[in-house]
Amino acid sequence: MPHPLRIAVLASGRGSNLAALLAARARGELAAEFVLVASDKAQAGALKLAEAAGIPTLVLDPKAYPDRRAFDLDLFDQLAASGAELVVLAGFMRILDGEAIAPWTGRMLNIHPSLLPKYRGLHTHRRALEAGDLEHGASVHFVTAELDGGPVVAQARLPVEPGEDEHRLAQRLLPLEHRLLPATVGLIAQGRLGWRDGAPTFDGQPLTAPLRLGPQGLLPA
Ligand code: GRF
Repeated sequence: MPHPLRIAVLASGRGSNLAALLAARARGELAAEFVLVASDKAQAGALKLAEAAGIPTLVLDPKAYPDRRAFDLDLFDQLAASGAELVVLAGFMRILDGEAIAPWTGRMLNIHPSLLPKYRGLHTHRRALEAGDLEHGASVHFVTAELDGGPVVAQARLPVEPGEDEHRLAQRLLPLEHRLLPATVGLIAQGRLGWRDGAPTFDGQPLTAPLRLGPQGLLPA
């Protein structure tokens, strides 16, 4: 049997997506070992969750480095030293240096609260409402040097309700994120979702459209 996938998680904030990953593992739905949770914020809730779960933690203060690249090179050196095979960005609120992340191409995922390629960056819920979108959602993508721009592998969608504000929309989307991210990571742990020749694969074939989260989990579109 293949060994559990060794995962490091990067998070700047409350850590609800990390909590969802840990819960999936606890339920036996994710064959993973969490080797490190790292943050750029000493107060991140994600660090407290990791400590409570007995996972090693790391805090790096960006102010202690001369520039962003120096921070990122140190961070990704430490991730490599942790033995991580996959890095998951779960609310890690920093733009990453292309050179620092190059060794992680095809081995790093991010979750973003929009239906990419729509609304890269911040304030995604507000922007979806302002555009009058009838549908909103979340995406998991492989990370490239382009912010929120790497290949999208899985999405969860929900209808926008008339009159709702950005907070309610975000609140309704979050439980979907909490299913989407563990399901996507689970497919990587099972060897079904992968990366070959600079692009994602699913069951050995090129993934041509993002998988969709449905009642039965993640399925080809
Ligand atoms: C989530 O909305 C995620 O999509 C975005 O940042 C937020 C992180 O929330 N990238 P949490 O810290 O996991 O609760």
